[in-house]
Order: sequence, then C-alpha cells, then structure tokens
Amino acid sequence: MTRKKTPESLRSQRWFGASDLRAFGHRSRTLQMGYRYEDFVGRPVIGLINTWSDINPCHTHLRQRAEEVKRGVWQAGGFPIELPAMSLAEVMVKPTTMLYRNFLAMETEELLRSHPIDGAVLLGGCDKTTPGLLMGAISMNVPAIFLPAGPLLRGNWGGKVLGSGSDVWKYWAEKQAGRITEADWQEMEAGIARSFGTCMTMGTASTMAGIVEAMGMMLPGAGSIPAADSGHSRMAMDCGSRIVDMVWEDLTPKSILTRNSFHNAIVALMAMAGSTNGIIHVLAMARRAGINLTLDDFEALSNEVGVIANLRPSGDWLMEDFHYAGGFKAFFKTLMPHLKLDELTVTGKTMRDNIADAKVWNEDVIRPLDNPIAKGGGIAVLRGNLAPGGCIIKPTAAEPRLLKHTGPAIVFDSYDAMSKAVNDESLDVTPDHVMVLRNAGPVGGPGMPEWGMLPIPKVLLKQGVRDMVRISDARMSGTSYGACILHVAPESYVGGPLAAVKNGDMITVDVPARTIRLEISDEELKTRLAAFTPKPRPELRGYVKLHAEHVKQADEGCDYDFLEGTAPIPEPEIH
Ligand code: FES
Repeated sequence: MTRKKTPESLRSQRWFGASDLRAFGHRSRTLQMGYRYEDFVGRPVIGLINTWSDINPCHTHLRQRAEEVKRGVWQAGGFPIELPAMSLAEVMVKPTTMLYRNFLAMETEELLRSHPIDGAVLLGGCDKTTPGLLMGAISMNVPAIFLPAGPLLRGNWGGKVLGSGSDVWKYWAEKQAGRITEADWQEMEAGIARSFGTCMTMGTASTMAGIVEAMGMMLPGAGSIPAADSGHSRMAMDCGSRIVDMVWEDLTPKSILTRNSFHNAIVALMAMAGSTNGIIHVLAMARRAGINLTLDDFEALSNEVGVIANLRPSGDWLMEDFHYAGGFKAFFKTLMPHLKLDELTVTGKTMRDNIADAKVWNEDVIRPLDNPIAKGGGIAVLRGNLAPGGCIIKPTAAEPRLLKHTGPAIVFDSYDAMSKAVNDESLDVTPDHVMVLRNAGPVGGPGMPEWGMLPIPKVLLKQGVRDMVRISDARMSGTSYGACILHVAPESYVGGPLAAVKNGDMITVDVPARTIRLEISDEELKTRLAAFTPKPRPELRGYVKLHAEHVKQADEGCDYDFLEGTAPIPEPEIH
C-alpha cells in the first residue's frame, strides 16, 4: 500500500485534531460515547451510510452487515461510525422510489460533508439506493466502497422456481385470464420471497450491482453473492478493512471513475440485458463524475455486445445460479474482449488483475461469447418524431413479431384512466393497437413511476394475447417484460411529442432500424403541439415541488440541475 495520507492530513482531524474550543466539544462528546482517544484521533473515520430500515425487506440484514463492516474497520485500524439514510424500499414507497433517488443522493453527500468522515462504506442494493448512494459519494469524492445487499434466494411454488417480479407479472396475467385460482395466487405470495435480499432476477438491483462492479466501485465478485450466504458477511468485513486502506491511499471515486469505467458499465448492462433503469442511473452517475455520457454511448455498444447472462426475464436462470456459475468475476472474464481492462478499481488494482483467477462453472448460465442468448441489442435506443430525445426498448424481453410494427394508438392520460379501461371488457382494442400512456415522466409523474409495462387489456388476455406494443414516458421495473417503449424524451407533461398523439393515429416502431414514428405530417405535429397545455394538477409542495422544478429529462439521467457539475464541494466551515 502506498500511503498518501498521514494521520495529521486526515479530513477528520479538522474535527478531532485541533486545539480549539470546538475540537474540545468534538472529542469530549466522542469520549462520552465510551471511546478512547486512540480509537478516533489520527485514525481514518469510516462512515457507514446504511439504508437499512424495518420497512425494507431487501435490506433486513444490513443492520447485521454494518456490524461486520465495523469489525473489518476496527481490525484495519479505522474508527467506524454508522449513519442511517433513506431506505427506499422499492415495493413500499409510493408513488415511486425514483422520486427520492436524488433525495438519497443529496442526503449521502450532506452526511459525508457535514461529519468528520474520511471514507465511506455505502450499504444498499434495493433499486434506487445504489445510484442514490453512489451519486452522493461521487460528488463528495471521499474514498468510498459500495456494499451490495445481494440477491435473495430462489422463489418456489408448486414445484416451480419463481423469480421476483417477472413471475408476479406472468401469473397475474394468468389469474386475470382465469387460468390459476385465488388459492394458487396466495400460495405464491408466500413462496416467491424466501429470504432477505434484493430481487433475484436481472431486475434493477442485480443490474446496478453488475454495473457498479464493472465501474470498479465494489470488491470483485461482491455483486452476486446471495444475501443469505455466509460469504456475504465475509465480504462485508472485507469492505470494512479495505476502505481503511483506501483512505490512506487517497483512492477517491473520481480517481477511479473514467470514461472507460463507464464503458465497462455499459458493456455489463448490455451483456446482462439489464434493466432499462440502468441507463438513467449510469447517465446520472457519470455526469456526477464529470463524464458527459449520452444515449448514443449506449446505442454504440448495443449491437456489439451479445447477451451472455442467461437470466430472467430475458433468459432462464436466477442470480443464485449466476453466483454458483462464477458470478460477476467470471462474467467479466468472459467479456474481456469488450472491456477496458486497465481501469483502476477499489482494490487499488485493475479490472484485469481482479478477474485473473475467475472461472465459469456453468456455460448455460454465463454463456461463452460465441453462444449468447441474443446476439446484441440487449437494450435499444429508438429516435424519431415521437421521441426526438430518444426512448428505450428491451428487445430481448419482447415478442419478436412486435419489433417491427405499425398500429393505431389508444391513448391514456393517466394511470387511473388506463387501469379502468383495461379492465373494461367492452374496450374497443385489438392486438395490433399501440397503447400510449402519458403524464408519467420525471416532471409529469412526478418522479417517473414504473408504469411502463402497461397491462394488456382483459379482453385481449382472454383471447390469449400476452404482448403488444406499449409506449410511455414512464420507466418499467427491471423484472418486467414485453414490447414496452419507455423513457420517451422529452416527456408529454412538458410538451414532448407524445402529448400530440390522438386515438387512432398510426404509430410505427422499427427496432432494427432504431426508429419510432407518429404517422402524421410535421406540420400537423407542430400545430397540435402549439395548442398543448399541461394536464391540470393540484399545487405541489415541499420536496415534490423542488423535484418537479429541477429534475432533468430521462435522456440526461433525471438528476437535478443544481447538483450537476464537478466543482469540489466546499468543506463546512468550522466555528
Ligand atoms: Fe428491493 Fe426488488 S424490491 S430489489
């Protein structure tokens, strides 16, 4: 280890090392908690930013993991302090956790800024906690390491393996079509989530774990360890000991994160056929690191990288299988020809060094490059007069016949109106219709809820239809599937072209050509948009008002305009 810091130059010494009135308070109040001088003076102070809460089932074990991290910190000669942060339980927070991702990012930045902290372990994993914690830590730029909550165990019902989310949507459609009973459904409720941990399909949590490991901000192999595996506890302890060394080495996020790190993140996203949410979060994290990624960076790699992680919803297996097959280290080793291998990581070594000893143990789960589950296009970016800023589709999760499609629009202005309509068995809709939902974007939602997998109308479900083209300015859960076109930018609420669509207008989607088009003349589109007024809504207040006034569009990562930029964050004044 090359030491760049001395005990005197630690940031925490501004609090603990001075001989003034304020430092008297900082020291005496730390002594008040039962610590000795030698525990905290001149030692790296490690902040554990913990998104544990009683309401987050994905993070139940993070209370215990924090103790294991602390053990590692103590053993390496650091001083651990744990600070709770917003928990963002994906399945509990209404209207959507995405509304609060930037809140957590701000909270993380300010927790780190305002306390005597030299380095941070970020404990999270449930969808938005990963980018939220990292965005804050990148901006604050103290050494930081991410501790992923890890996937929960495989689900099980009636002799079948169940995957989080994906099987809920699948069997809900079967229940609506009358093919399974209420009793079956209730049994499934008790069988699908069998331990603490994050969704074990390739949803947003697994996607973000793979992305963050690819970026170099996580210990090698950490991203796939099942939450309930004893290896997860050992990894937590390793995070604790490693962060202390990272402080001495002054290994900060901005010294790790380069354009190449984000190249690796995008390669991982494509090869996992990861959640479409990953695009928004990668854009936001990159911009915090001063790297101006755009949707074109994703599209450039879309056809180049085959999907080699055979995981649901695009494939067959679950994260527990992926871990036993070799996990992310083996996944990256397979992807070596596509990766920038000389990128630095939290280990202080390169990606190449980190994966040198990795092996694939099951080539159906982690496929060789010459036998992918899809040759490319894990995620595709479409553009056209309906989405000049771009929109997203996950072709591997859609029925192939819908990837080139023209059909009449059936338009909904709110989620409630849509929900009511799809349950009405007299709804005039055919399998060729293109369902359009608007006012569900970053400002219009507000918060861009995961409404993008619009439910198939009941009347079509009964005819056996299981997929149709759906377009919105919303997001969708990473565990969702179908021909869902998402993140349309600019969004309808701020006058994007989606606002101009009328029932019966023809819409053409051509995924191979990467285009999306509303089949009306440019002039007609202009006339309709000139007459646009936003849908009336009640006056917003508080944080939601701040969000709606400052959030950027999906193609820019949905960060706040006032949080972008890479100027050093001012240290708090000490008086
Ligand atoms: Fe937490 Fe899916 S609900 S990761």
